[in-house]
Amino acid sequence: CEKCKQSFKVEDITKDKIIKCPQCGTELKDAYPVNLMFQTKIGIGKARDAFLRPETAQGIFTDFHLLYRFAREKLPFGVVQIGKGYRNEVSPRQGIIRLREFSMAEAEVFFDPKDKTHKYFESVKDKELFLFDNIKEMKLSLEKAVNTKVINNQALAYYMYLTQEFLMTAGVDPKKFRFRKHGDDELAHYATECWDAELFSERFGWIECVGIADRSAYDLNAHIQSSGTDMYALRKFEESKTVEIKKIVPNMGVMGPLFKGKAGKIKTILENMEVKDTKKISVNIDGETIEVPNNCYDIVQKKEKITGEKYVPHVIEPSFGIDRILYCVLEHNYSEGKKKGEEYRVLKFNSIIAPIKVGVLPLISDNKLVKIANEI
Ligand code: GLY
Repeated sequence: CEKCKQSFKVEDITKDKIIKCPQCGTELKDAYPVNLMFQTKIGIGKARDAFLRPETAQGIFTDFHLLYRFAREKLPFGVVQIGKGYRNEVSPRQGIIRLREFSMAEAEVFFDPKDKTHKYFESVKDKELFLFDNIKEMKLSLEKAVNTKVINNQALAYYMYLTQEFLMTAGVDPKKFRFRKHGDDELAHYATECWDAELFSERFGWIECVGIADRSAYDLNAHIQSSGTDMYALRKFEESKTVEIKKIVPNMGVMGPLFKGKAGKIKTILENMEVKDTKKISVNIDGETIEVPNNCYDIVQKKEKITGEKYVPHVIEPSFGIDRILYCVLEHNYSEGKKKGEEYRVLKFNSIIAPIKVGVLPLISDNKLVKIANEI
C-alpha cells in the first residue's frame, strides 16, 4: 500500500471475493508466483540453480571494470553485443513476435552523469524524430525535443535518431513507425526514461521493436553492491590536489573469519565508502544489510594526492529485438496486386539489405539472350 507501506499477498485481498476474467467471465483461481526468467540447473547431483540471460546487457555491466581499462579510462565509450536472450513468456503465440528464445542486439554506452551531451549532436540537431507521448503524435527536431525536455538529454536523443535512421535504411515504412515514451507506470525498474521504437504490423498492431533507455547508474550500482567489484570511473581534475581525507582501512584478520566468503566484497565496499557516520557502518550485499563491527576496520585521516573524483557512470542503452524488426521489414515490404488479370506477390527490399541485388532474367530461352543477360 503506497500510503501505509504495508505489504499484502494478492490472495489476502481476493480470498472472500469472486473475481472474474474481464474478457470471458471465467472465475479466477488463486494467485501463484510467476518467474519470467528461464530457470535451469548447472552441474549434476547437488546442481546449482541458474537462470538463462533475459537480456544480453548484463555481461557488459559485469565486465565494466575491464572494459573501462580497455577504453583507456575515458568516457563516453560504448560496447555492443548480439546474441540470444531467453524469457519464460506466458503465451508465445505470435510467430516470431513473441519467442522464448530470441535474438537481441544491445549497446551500452557509458557517460559521465554530469555530461550527457553527445559529440555528434550538433550535426543532427535539426533532424526530426517521430514521437508519441501516449496522448499525441509529434514531429520534433532533436534540438527542440532536448531543449523542451521531451527527451531528457542529448545522448538519449542521439541514439534515438540513429535507431530511426537504421530502421528507415532497413526498409521500415515511415508511416508505420513512431517512438513511444514509456509512462511512469510501465518504466522498467532500471530506467529513468525509455522510448520504444514501435513498428505497425497489419497483423499484430503496434509492436515494440527497439527500446532506448536511460538506465542511469542502476546496473553498475547493483553490481558494485552485490559483487563488491570496483566499477567506478574517475573524473580527472585539471591538476591533482592534495586533500585531507578520512579512509576506512579494513582489517582482514578480523573480517576474514567473521564474514568468510563475503569478506572480499565487504572490503571493496568499505574501501570505496565515503566516511560519514563512523559509529555504525553497514553494507548491502545481495539484498542483505550487514553490520560491520568497528573492530573490523580502522578509520585513518590522512593527506592524499588525488587526481580526480570517483563516480558511477550512467548508461544509455539502445536494445534491438532483431526477430521483430525482421518480421516488420518483411511485412512492410510485401505487397499483393494484379497485373493484366494476373496475381502478383512482391517482396521488394532496399538494396542495402536485399540478399539478391539485381536479377537479369531473359524471358525466353534463347542462347543469344542468355549470353547478353550473363554479360549484363
Ligand atoms: N535490455 C533491455 C531489455 O531487455 O528489454
